[in-house]
Amino acid sequence: MMKTPKNETTFFIIRGITDDPDFDVIIFFLVLLIYLTTLAGNMTFFLLVCFDRHLHTPMYIFLGNLSIVDMLCSTITQHNVLLGFITKDKSITYTSCMAQMYMFGSLTGQELLILTAMSYDRYVAICRPLLYHNIMNKRTCVLLNCACWTWGFLQVMPPLGIFYTFTCYSSIVINHFFCDIIPLMKLSCNDTSLLRTLFFMECLVLIGCTPFILTFISYVFIIRNILKIRSTTGKRKAFYTCSSHLTVVLLLYTTLFSQYLSSDLKDSTKLSALFNTAAVPLLNPLIYSLKNKDFKAAFKRKLILYFQKSEKKEHGSHIQIFIVQILLQ
Ligand SMILES: *[C@@H]1O[C@H](CO)[C@@H](O)[C@H](O)[C@H]1NC(C)=O
Repeated sequence: MMKTPKNETTFFIIRGITDDPDFDVIIFFLVLLIYLTTLAGNMTFFLLVCFDRHLHTPMYIFLGNLSIVDMLCSTITQHNVLLGFITKDKSITYTSCMAQMYMFGSLTGQELLILTAMSYDRYVAICRPLLYHNIMNKRTCVLLNCACWTWGFLQVMPPLGIFYTFTCYSSIVINHFFCDIIPLMKLSCNDTSLLRTLFFMECLVLIGCTPFILTFISYVFIIRNILKIRSTTGKRKAFYTCSSHLTVVLLLYTTLFSQYLSSDLKDSTKLSALFNTAAVPLLNPLIYSLKNKDFKAAFKRKLILYFQKSEKKEHGSHIQIFIVQILLQ
């Protein structure tokens, strides 16, 4: 086997999902569609949360942060596919590859942690409604958000540090569509057992189990409390406020588990990895905005404001406002 010492490795080749040029075109347009939809959805969410005062509640501030994570995450995982197809250049420098691996690991952790913080928020809202504004005040909210971001960035450092000590690679072709740790680990000709163990432990304890257990406990309390509510409307309303969150949590855990449990990298598994990494950022804004009254109201307010401004320039905007109101009913 040919070995390349690390100091001679200045770049890697991202093999991508397939080597078949016809299939490449389909993948390109599919990924482009997914990417643009993801950006549009999350950008709308982000802007509304930033600029609408009514959405300055803990839940929406968490969601605003989640939309930043989602935009970054989909950019990192999908831009190689898009750029590689356009420029026909599949190489990536060593430094960008490391940065990609670092960012993807951090963002996945942050996504999990923010969702965990949100389950705590839901727990307080349903089980301690009278104390909600005392417990989930601005300070706690900022602290929780900062903790999620910081911890996400820190937790990737130990595995990446070990990876950095590797001295040579058996190949420079990464059999994946972005620099992820498992495909890169396979290229190393050093002993990777320590890194494997550490990575496995981190996934299990720091990333998987702890957020999972915390979310699970929150939901046990939430469900117990919902069952205690007498009136059906009260029950429905309480359940309603956490159903979106629960959907996203379930979606994220399913995709993460299915992605990291299948470690062989055939074309079909890479394709499912593509959907796994794309699903949560794509569906997150949809799940939260569909059937969400606050969000729709905010959207409507901003649209009407926009049309009212343009009304000064041209007539006929009453009809536009009317159409918007009907659409958003
Ligand atoms: C993210 O969280 C911070 C801290 O709570 C908050 O100040 C900021 O507004 C949030 N960002 C968005 C887009 O919601």
